[in-house]
Amino acid sequence: MKSEKLSTLVARAGSMADSNGHVVPPIAMSTTFARDGEQRLLSGVDYSRDGSPMYPPLEALLSKLDRGVAALVFSSGLAAAHAVLMSLRPGDHLIVPQACYWGFRKLATQFAADWGIALSLVDFTDNSQLAAALRPGQTKLVWVETPANPSWEVTDLREVVRLAKGAGAAVCVDSTVPTPVLTRPIELGADLVLHSATKYLNGHSDVLAGALITAQLDERWQRICTHRHDAGAVLGNVEAWLLLRGLKTLEVRVRRCSQTALELATRLEPHPALHAVLYPGLASHPGHTLARSQMDGGFSGMMSLRFAGGEAAALAACSKLRVFVRATSLGATESLAEHRATVEGPASRVPRDLVRLSIGLEDVEDLYEDLLQAFAG
Ligand SMILES: Cc1ncc(COP(=O)(O)O)c(C=O)c1O
Repeated sequence: MKSEKLSTLVARAGSMADSNGHVVPPIAMSTTFARDGEQRLLSGVDYSRDGSPMYPPLEALLSKLDRGVAALVFSSGLAAAHAVLMSLRPGDHLIVPQACYWGFRKLATQFAADWGIALSLVDFTDNSQLAAALRPGQTKLVWVETPANPSWEVTDLREVVRLAKGAGAAVCVDSTVPTPVLTRPIELGADLVLHSATKYLNGHSDVLAGALITAQLDERWQRICTHRHDAGAVLGNVEAWLLLRGLKTLEVRVRRCSQTALELATRLEPHPALHAVLYPGLASHPGHTLARSQMDGGFSGMMSLRFAGGEAAALAACSKLRVFVRATSLGATESLAEHRATVEGPASRVPRDLVRLSIGLEDVEDLYEDLLQAFAG
């Protein structure tokens, strides 16, 4: 059979028909695994920090979806990001986008300061800044997130790869928001892909998980594997099972969220309560053309609204929402709304008039009506 399409791969996630007739895998809870009288492992697995029997179907699927050669699951998205940072050595140079998930920017900044890594924060909407920041031979890693939190800036992956490779640096793309349904960075030349699997991959607000997918089995990947094992940032067995189940509906969820988000963004853009709707699917978004060229059939369910009446209007609208849940995170079945500056705290650089929306699977008319009544004074 020629290689299966993404919808077939995810629909069959973990499906099997074992000797007991199970169609979905049972949850294997053992943390330790027996040896025979000659000290041989009965199952090939020794201890669950080495890798649980729950991982192979999950990691094989994630690797295929992102067109990599191997994948690892972690206890969270940031645990996966930390493993990538741990593959650097003192004296290396790291480039991180100014616009990205704030938790990662905070982690990378502290990590670099503590471990002697040179760090540059760069505006990725201007490739000349990246070109100027690269230090051939010293820059070991360029981090990318696209579309990026919370303005949904789009980064030109092909161009970043071209510039980074020219300087001998690897590229790691946080692809949490587009998921492999909409963008496959390895096809565009990236070396590593990261997902907070807590978001769309699981999709039900009930699992904290991370994943890394690699384009090659190199020394960096070996260091990452060793770090997961030695530091124990492994995923629990129940979480692995839930993630596999969530993945089965990934494609339909992402496409539906993207469709609803585009419809809502288009309807909301002219609304007088807003001075901007930030969504890469809108022709007015500065990254729209680029997004069309590297996102496949949708622009995700993530958008941000900026209120003409400033912070007070943004907070007032949030307080009136009835269908949207006021909560952080993204990529779930239920739509979420958050005043991002409140969530990020006093050091946040996010404009205080901005509300971030994660569009879920509800009917578009219910979501639209909820927003209209929340905007009404
Ligand atoms: C784009 C992005 N990357 C990474 C993370 C971190 O993932 P986790 O919360 O699973 O550690 C988040 C969390 O919000 C995120 O939005």
